[in-house]
Amino acid sequence: MTKIKRIGVLTSGGDAPGMNAAIRAVVRAAVFHNIEVVGTFQGYEGLISGDFKKLHVRSVAKILARGGTILKSARCNDFYEAQGRTRAAEAMAKAGLDGLVTIGGNGTFAGAEKLELEHNVKIIGIPGTIDNDLSGTDYTIGFDTATNTVVDAVDKIRDTASSHNRLFFVEVMGRDSGFIAIRTAIATGAIAVMTPEAQMDIEELISILDLGAQSQKSSSIVIVAEGEKHGGAVEIARLVEERYTQYEARVTVLGHIQRGGEPSCFDRVLASRLGLAAVEGLISGRSGEMAGIVNDKVVYTTFAAAIQSKSASLDEDLRVAQILSI
Ligand code: F6P
Repeated sequence: MTKIKRIGVLTSGGDAPGMNAAIRAVVRAAVFHNIEVVGTFQGYEGLISGDFKKLHVRSVAKILARGGTILKSARCNDFYEAQGRTRAAEAMAKAGLDGLVTIGGNGTFAGAEKLELEHNVKIIGIPGTIDNDLSGTDYTIGFDTATNTVVDAVDKIRDTASSHNRLFFVEVMGRDSGFIAIRTAIATGAIAVMTPEAQMDIEELISILDLGAQSQKSSSIVIVAEGEKHGGAVEIARLVEERYTQYEARVTVLGHIQRGGEPSCFDRVLASRLGLAAVEGLISGRSGEMAGIVNDKVVYTTFAAAIQSKSASLDEDLRVAQILSI
């Protein structure tokens, strides 16, 4: 096994609260193990162009509690092409990097898998996305903070909804997955939750709303995952109002507010544990894997397996949301 002397670290895809805590953990764990760390800016774009900067222990001071990512992030089209990945491998070799830690979501790991296979680059991933849609970890960094942001916003919406006996549709992020939607639906007592996984029709939604009206609910909040089949909360509200005039709906699309803010304690701890696990994984000769935490233990999962859907694990939460929303 070759000794790792210098590694790169980057954040890629949508930023997530806790990415900075993960960068800090990678830098400090590496320094602890006598490994140099080079920060790569703008995700894979910086890896291709060689946008590197050496990071020291103090370069990552006071970032544990900061949202966003000090390394910046990007979704890089060039990295989808073999030529782009060749340039990245060349830039890494030129900078003397014998390992890489990539922090991101499924797009990030799909790219990392190819770079590893094509160029034999040693890479470990850290799950950083608010979507929580990666297998091989119970939680991704940022999910806890994002769901707390949603809960805070929906609690406020509930105050005005109750005052006017109104129906609100609140759209949350999650891309193709309903993790944010289902968890926050439980936590805010939403009357219904519409996700890509559960596929609810407008008629079914209306019958749930009617039951709520009959049982004297004074306000109704429906959480809509952005990837839901009707195309989002605005469209669902339109369809409901068009067919059932007794409902006057309001819509709130929470958007990128969900990606910002200070990471929660949970996300800081998760990021810290995974940063250390990523560096120690590389030291022990691991590559092509994502470090995750399952049942409170660090596990490593191949990139190919990590990007598989884990939506089946939503079934139980969905049942909780449905039963308790009556
Ligand atoms: O993957 C994180 C995420 O916030 C998704 O929930 C959302 O669909 C997407 O990124 C938005 O991406 P962008 O910031 O590029 O619009």
